[in-house]
Amino acid sequence: MSARFQDQVVLITGATAGIGYAAAVAFAREGARLMVSGRNIEAGKKLLTELQALGAQAEFVRAEVSDESQVAQLVDACVARFGRVDVAVNSAGLEGQGGSIMDQTVDTYTSTFNANALGTFLCLKHEMRVMSKQKSGAIVNLSSTMGSRGNARAPMYVASKHAIEGFTKAVALEGCQYNVRVNAVAPGPIATEMLDRIAGGAQNVPAVAATIPAGRVGEPQEVADAILFLASAQATYIMGQILAVNGGKTAM
Ligand SMILES: NC(=O)c1ccc[n+]([C@@H]2O[C@H](COP(=O)([O-])OP(=O)(O)OC[C@H]3O[C@@H](n4cnc5c(N)ncnc54)[C@H](O)[C@@H]3O)[C@@H](O)[C@H]2O)c1
Repeated sequence: MSARFQDQVVLITGATAGIGYAAAVAFAREGARLMVSGRNIEAGKKLLTELQALGAQAEFVRAEVSDESQVAQLVDACVARFGRVDVAVNSAGLEGQGGSIMDQTVDTYTSTFNANALGTFLCLKHEMRVMSKQKSGAIVNLSSTMGSRGNARAPMYVASKHAIEGFTKAVALEGCQYNVRVNAVAPGPIATEMLDRIAGGAQNVPAVAATIPAGRVGEPQEVADAILFLASAQATYIMGQILAVNGGKTAM
């Protein structure tokens, strides 16, 4: 039996850490060829070694997702190396500055929206440029529980993740005419460096876990499993949807 993504070309941003990293490893194990991206070249080289050890063809291109020329070059490099883009996972993002709206500034707005909303917009634009011509493709964006709910201590993150859900639905509707499916996953707290930062240190993660019905935070692999499902041939009639991966948090 062949692997689920045998020889498919998968592009992942934010691939050197956390959820993007777990997705890269999971796609490699399923036979994919990978164009992985991040901002840290050393971390990119380490990731390439690991993906190649799994038998995957892989290449790393450094890209800041809020810079349109770098995003365009990343997508073009994927096509130059592998000839196409079958799957794209837009995982690059950051939590931004937390705290009261009264303490937020144009700078905290801009830095959070640049990485999350502008970055997702630019990735969608250039991925669609290729996929619309191919007349096939699947894109998975990274939202959050905060993409559809409020959080008084994270107004910039909440608003930028709502923007990602808006882009997901709008571009999914356009994608239907090109046989391109666009969906998002909306994780709850997941054990990555980002969660340690949000919690104010790894020592505070158990207190976060206590607020989750499942009684624990999620693992990056559990989000990767949902990403692979949405990108797979088992999800061909799923379009413009936001799949919660949150240990029951939004069932409360
Ligand atoms: N960890 C969680 O609890 C959680 C929950 C919900 C949603 N998410 C979302 O999942 C995605 C991945 O999060 P993670 O937990 O793996 O975080 P992480 O911090 O571990 O990894 C994110 C990666 O994205 C990169 N990145 C950030 N801004 C970038 C930019 N402007 N250009 C290029 N790369 C950039 C970072 O350098 C890092 O390598 C994010 O979009 C995040 O908002 C995470």
